[in-house]
Amino acid sequence: MPRGNAVVTGYGFYAPSRVVTNHDLEKMVDTSDEWITSRTGIKERRFAAQGENTSTMATRAAKIALERARLRPQDVDLIIVGTCSPDYLFPATACLVQDALGAEHAGAFDVEAACTSFVSAIAVANGMILAGSARNAVVIGAECLSRLLDFKDRNTCVLFGDGAGAVVLEASNASVGVESAVLHADGSKGELLYVKAGGSRVPATNETVAQGQHFIRMQGGEVFKLAVKSMADAAEEALAEAGVGLDEIDLMVPHQANVRIIDAVAKRLHFPMEKVIVNIQRYGNTSAASIPIALAEAAETGKLKKGDRVLLVAFGGGFTWGAAVMEWWGVPIPDRREKTIVERAARTVDDLLDRVRLPSP
Ligand code: COA
Repeated sequence: MPRGNAVVTGYGFYAPSRVVTNHDLEKMVDTSDEWITSRTGIKERRFAAQGENTSTMATRAAKIALERARLRPQDVDLIIVGTCSPDYLFPATACLVQDALGAEHAGAFDVEAACTSFVSAIAVANGMILAGSARNAVVIGAECLSRLLDFKDRNTCVLFGDGAGAVVLEASNASVGVESAVLHADGSKGELLYVKAGGSRVPATNETVAQGQHFIRMQGGEVFKLAVKSMADAAEEALAEAGVGLDEIDLMVPHQANVRIIDAVAKRLHFPMEKVIVNIQRYGNTSAASIPIALAEAAETGKLKKGDRVLLVAFGGGFTWGAAVMEWWGVPIPDRREKTIVERAARTVDDLLDRVRLPSP
């Protein structure tokens, strides 16, 4: 397989059409628009409609990304979905996306590192492309968190939203592409943010359901403290690994969990907020989907341009955190189609020669 740097050649996102405002939530739980806005920056979020779920949203985002990359589903080598709200415990959501896309030659699996899942999936796809074991990968972050929310728990139900974002990564020498990706975890802090029941440790029973143990639970204050330091540390590490200075970063795309966390990270790094993408006011925290949605939206609105250097930084349940540096390309590889045709023709000629070659005496 041809090797090359992992370059973004397509991007897309999907946000469900149902908008749920803070005022809507005021009618469901003891909260206020003022509290939510001042503590988190969130004004509204999207909730999936009946019949929509993580794989359907992931598929929609992936289709847009593939169209932009001008890559046919049957030419996709790998599909990775980052999610903590999969359609099923198994099969992987990525397999459902593979089927829906008709990506008949692709391998597919999920990556679960909560809100760090997209950066983790980028790290995996980048490694496989650099190693030559995949020519391309559709990397998706998708969540349907509204199905995991307890609308009696005001600590969590106001924070999260649904959606999906995707990028196509391809081997190319057209750009430096992904320059670094660093990942970290501290499993001892897993219970700060988790869904207790429904897995093999606490299987679902009538009792776990009655106690709402299948919903997201969080100790927000503790998560907040860990988030700022871990995101800033990961950003510095990813920059050092890429050999890039912060002054060379055109745009930072952080995980959208809380505008105060994003602010604090930018301050800690001495990075100007004008170069930080913030869209949490419209989507809430969409976990694994937040970075790819923000990336795709920034590219669509011209805030992110070809040749820009981007810093992605995330943290989430696990506890997990990570960051990646990449040069944004965002357009199809110009000569890919021609190359594919030439490669196919060469293979056909080889096959024909094999057939006519006489067996050795
Ligand atoms: N509406 C009104 N009041 C609420 C509320 C809501 N939706 N949610 C919580 N409260 C109340 C609490 O009951 C508590 O009341 P008490 O003091 O009477 O017990 C109080 O608000 C807590 O306030 P405070 O400690 O000042 O909140 P905060 O500034 O820490 O903000 C979070 C809370 C959750 C917004 C904040 O801690 C946070 O964003 N943490 C990180 C969460 C996160 O990012 N999670 C995702 C990780 S990927």
